[in-house]
Amino acid sequence: MTTTEPTPGQRAVPPAEQPYYVIDFDSTFTKVEALDILGEISLAGRPERDDVLHQIKTITDRGMSGEISFTESLNLRLDLLKAHRNHLPALIESLMGKISDSFQRNKEFLTEHADHIYIVSNGFREFILPIVTSLGIQAEHVFANTFLYDENGAVIGFDPQNPLSANGGKSQVIRDLNLGGEVYVIGDGYTDYEIRASGLANRFYAFTENVLRPSVVEKADHVAHSLDDFLYQNNLSRSQSYPKSRIKVLLLENVHPVAVQLFEQEGFKVEIRKEALDEDELIEAIRDVSILGIRSKTNITARVLENANKLMAVGAFCIGTNQIDLDTCTQKGIAVFNAPYSNTRSVVELAIGEIIMLIRSIVPKSNLMHNGGWDKSAKNSFEVRGKKLGLVGYGNIGTQLSVVAEALGMEVYFYDIVDKLALGNARKCKSLDDLLAVADIISLHTDGRKENKNLFSYREFSLMKNGVIFLNLSRGHIVDIPALVDAIERGKIAGAGVDVFPLEPKTNNEEFSSALRKLPNVILTPHIGGSTEEAQVNIGNFVPGKLLEYINNGSTYGSVNFPELQLPMLKGAHRLLHIHANVPGILAKMNAIFANYHINIHGQYLKTNEQIGYVITDVAKEYAHEVVEELKGIDNTIKFRLLF
Ligand SMILES: NC(=O)c1ccc[n+]([C@@H]2O[C@H](COP(=O)([O-])OP(=O)(O)OC[C@H]3O[C@@H](n4cnc5c(N)ncnc54)[C@H](O)[C@@H]3O)[C@@H](O)[C@H]2O)c1
Repeated sequence: MTTTEPTPGQRAVPPAEQPYYVIDFDSTFTKVEALDILGEISLAGRPERDDVLHQIKTITDRGMSGEISFTESLNLRLDLLKAHRNHLPALIESLMGKISDSFQRNKEFLTEHADHIYIVSNGFREFILPIVTSLGIQAEHVFANTFLYDENGAVIGFDPQNPLSANGGKSQVIRDLNLGGEVYVIGDGYTDYEIRASGLANRFYAFTENVLRPSVVEKADHVAHSLDDFLYQNNLSRSQSYPKSRIKVLLLENVHPVAVQLFEQEGFKVEIRKEALDEDELIEAIRDVSILGIRSKTNITARVLENANKLMAVGAFCIGTNQIDLDTCTQKGIAVFNAPYSNTRSVVELAIGEIIMLIRSIVPKSNLMHNGGWDKSAKNSFEVRGKKLGLVGYGNIGTQLSVVAEALGMEVYFYDIVDKLALGNARKCKSLDDLLAVADIISLHTDGRKENKNLFSYREFSLMKNGVIFLNLSRGHIVDIPALVDAIERGKIAGAGVDVFPLEPKTNNEEFSSALRKLPNVILTPHIGGSTEEAQVNIGNFVPGKLLEYINNGSTYGSVNFPELQLPMLKGAHRLLHIHANVPGILAKMNAIFANYHINIHGQYLKTNEQIGYVITDVAKEYAHEVVEELKGIDNTIKFRLLF
């Protein structure tokens, strides 16, 4: 199946058919209402400032939503503002930094179509002109009010002769302009809609990038979430191949708010749900979703994926990805990312803490005191300095623990089934048995593959030194619990820290039953090795980072199911991303198409895994549209995307 995407729409509409674009200023061209900012400047240092600013905002909103007339709102605000000519340079400087993102991105459109663009605003020409002309708008196409000043330069009102100072002023301006073609109005406020209502515009687009006024949206012919979105809807050249405001992100299971913020900042439409969804609920929710974020409780099954036709990527805001049908994701060209080491440090710190507590026999001493006892003695209390720490599994956590433990003066030994680079002064053991024979403290950090079930049982415990400290913060099934209990009871193990169990309660209300309960010098923790506020923030930052790199740039570095490609930033080119079933000859077919159309290729990247191939081709911006259609039509194409 091929996912189709709109073609780039690079061709401008021929001038004769081109409509006139009438664009509002406040909260459309800029992110803010300029008079609010003027108030912040003019009232700076006055005790009543916050109160007055609040009043100004309320009046602005009432005017914008049509609750009070425009002239009334302007009069009321100017009275409160106490503005002066001297305040304008600071206002202009501030507004320059508050131009709407999508307007900044589309300077090319504004400049190229300047003949057909008008700024019509109830704001003031004094500050509007420098802002809009900086993006190519023609000065004589700017219509706005002008201030009146007293002899000292204080703003005392507005020019009453200007039609824009009166109710219905925008319509009057358009009527006077007599444009003689189609007119599209883009704005966030009621006065913009009025142009359409008075029959002087063919379409009104409610612009919602900065503010969404329901009463205005309700009346609009179309909603434009951004200027890119407007340009996309009108098949005009734009800065984003596919407007981000049209990309829906669904985040489940209470992922950290930082993730929500990152996606929103990027301009995506984000929906959040606190809970996990079951299969049927997810099937319903996923239909129009492009990016899905989950944690461990949502299962992404083949049935769910059958209904996920817009889905481009899945972010697992956790370490494991067992809850996701990765094969089906791959077959459907959906890239999956997780957060493999966002909580590594948290696990390491808990391990270090437990090692120190256990080797000092703090747990039985503390328990005794809770029962009124007092055992002041140094017996069975040791320092960690100089002790031999044996790490089984030298991956993300094992290596990090190796470094921190050395800093505390421990001698580190490790064993891994894969040949790993020893960090610092750590020593590699040839076999697990070698490690067991030498270590004073043994800590498990292997992954949870099924071959590792009961990796530690009676034999392994018997090979350890007497009085060893033993930690498992990796996976529950790796340790044979009866064997561990036996080793603790026999004194082979002097202290143990266990965070993970073969059977763990599913909720906080379920009882924890284990033969490890009530054993001396054993620290039990409820699988919280990686659970810290910092880890949650790290995951919340890390996963969106990966997803955004993929969506914006095509990079798949760190994907759990896609061939990994780290791509250069896209500059001055169009990027064609082609995902296909890994059968021979696809690259040749693609390149035959490029050759046929004399495409100038800037760069090409290919990587495959057993199931799919991923080819990225950067091409010069000018090319025939048919190329895209032909690439999508190649047999075994799974997904095609275009970035520019
Ligand atoms: N307690 C928690 O809350 C928590 C949090 C995070 C991770 N974990 C668990 O910690 C473990 C380690 O995580 P990681 O991020 O370091 O994983 P990782 O994949 O980076 O490292 C695992 C290492 O174990 C090695 N290994 C696998 N089987 C082995 C064996 N039989 N003998 C020796 N080495 C073996 C692998 O080669 C790899 O180097 C995982 O099981 C993970 O699920 C637990």
